[in-house]
Amino acid sequence: MNLAATPGWPVVLRDGAVLLRPYRRSDATAWSEIRCANQAWLAPWESFPPGRWDELNSPAAFRWVYRDQRKQARRGESMPFAVCLVDGGRERLVGHLNLGNIVRRAFCSAYVGYWVDGRVAGRGVIPTAMALAVDHAFGPGALHRIEVNIRPENGPSRRVVEKLGFREEAYHPRYMHIDGAWRDHIGYAMTSEEVAGEGGLLARWHRLRAAAS
Ligand SMILES: CC(C)(COP(=O)(O)OP(=O)(O)OC[C@H]1O[C@@H](n2cnc3c(N)ncnc32)[C@H](O)[C@@H]1OP(=O)(O)O)[C@@H](O)C(=O)NCCC(=O)NCCS
Repeated sequence: MNLAATPGWPVVLRDGAVLLRPYRRSDATAWSEIRCANQAWLAPWESFPPGRWDELNSPAAFRWVYRDQRKQARRGESMPFAVCLVDGGRERLVGHLNLGNIVRRAFCSAYVGYWVDGRVAGRGVIPTAMALAVDHAFGPGALHRIEVNIRPENGPSRRVVEKLGFREEAYHPRYMHIDGAWRDHIGYAMTSEEVAGEGGLLARWHRLRAAAS
């Protein structure tokens, strides 16, 4: 493995009960259970190949996803995190966050994609995961820019990036094939300078949560 191609990977990140780690082969059953239980919650927001949801999200399908993610991560193209909740020392898979399409040289940028089990939505799991991943990307990951593209109709996802202070910077008509059609997306972004003065995105997120409580 060419370590120079993958600064900052593999890594485990944690803030309170939220833990981010590389996927394991043994995640297959839990991953499949969550994906199958959340079909109606996830399908409107994801691109996926033709096929039945239960087959695309079976434990056997996970083995292919796992191998593909590892290959991309080894090449330095992505950092695919399993998002877990830790409770009483036990770790439970509840979601996913990927720093993908990593391009280095003069760009040093990544796109973020994420989802969480609808049964734990609304607890700030993904904003916390995002803050951990972005600080890691801007630090050991040696990236400079993080971009997120979201369908205008996806209020909860827009709330995540807007709460964290991502800049809305573009409107992409017919940007991505999602849920059966080419869907418009809003482009949000953040560069490292925008959070450096505040001690990072996690520190900003903690301050925002404290102010809201
Ligand atoms: C978008 C998503 C990842 C947010 O994750 P999360 O951990 O729930 O994030 P938050 O806890 O900050 O909640 C975000 C917003 O969701 C809304 N929300 C809260 N509980 C909710 C629930 N049970 N169901 C739906 N929306 C809810 C709220 O508006 C909340 O914003 P708030 O700060 O005003 O309360 C999650 O809703 C999800 O997985 N959606 C389906 C997949 C998806 O859209 N992925 C992103 C594609 S760009």
